[in-house]
Amino acid sequence: MIQIHTYDSYEDLSKHAAQLVSDQIRMKPDSVLGLATGSSPVGLYKELIRMHQEEDLDFANVTSFNLDEYLGLNPEHAQSYRTFMNQNLFDHINIEIVRTHVPSGIAEDIAAMALSYEQAIHNAGGIDLQILGIGSDGHIAFNEPGSALDSRTRVVDLEEQTIRDNARFFESIDDVPRQAITMGVGTILEAREIILVANGEGKSAAVSDAVQGDVSTQCTASALQNHSKITFILDKAAAARLNI
Ligand code: GLP
Repeated sequence: MIQIHTYDSYEDLSKHAAQLVSDQIRMKPDSVLGLATGSSPVGLYKELIRMHQEEDLDFANVTSFNLDEYLGLNPEHAQSYRTFMNQNLFDHINIEIVRTHVPSGIAEDIAAMALSYEQAIHNAGGIDLQILGIGSDGHIAFNEPGSALDSRTRVVDLEEQTIRDNARFFESIDDVPRQAITMGVGTILEAREIILVANGEGKSAAVSDAVQGDVSTQCTASALQNHSKITFILDKAAAARLNI
């Protein structure tokens, strides 16, 4: 059963999500966090930075695993998800950079890299708290419609819609990579707790399909219905199509 928390503003939902993350870290200082990129969690990361600076939230023993990376972008590329995480979170908190993991988009043997990414999550004891956004077609991480609900970390082709949605971060749509490496739906579902943040009208259909639709590969976020500890943290616009 997906728990729904709805807030008036993006600022409020971000604060609430950050509170859940900080509660987790204070309860277990060596927590393993699953982290997401995209614009949705940026407010949450800003609030975590504030909590670190003003309230001594300590990331010294935290380990993190990011969901995904564009295939072919090296970590230093301005639009890589590694750069995104450094700029939006890691550079501003006291996390040990060696304990932050983002899949490599440039590994020579991507299949081997994917396996070792899964193994590293396992060796760290599994993910305690996974943060997710949602794509406008209902994808989580880069698990596009059609992805198996027990899929693991692998290379995927991106949908045209996702390429269009993400083009705003690149100079031109032609610069957006057509493939990515992503944790699978099955990988994500193994996290002990999951929070999904979504804001804006553009996410309302995806949110309603995920929460109220059938569990289906056509909306990979719907697989979250089968998780025992999952909370959607929404603004009013993203929640607009929910029957609550
Ligand atoms: C990309 C990421 C997802 C993210 C989605 C939504 O596809 N791989 O993890 O949830 O974008 O992004 P945004 O939050 O910018 O709308």
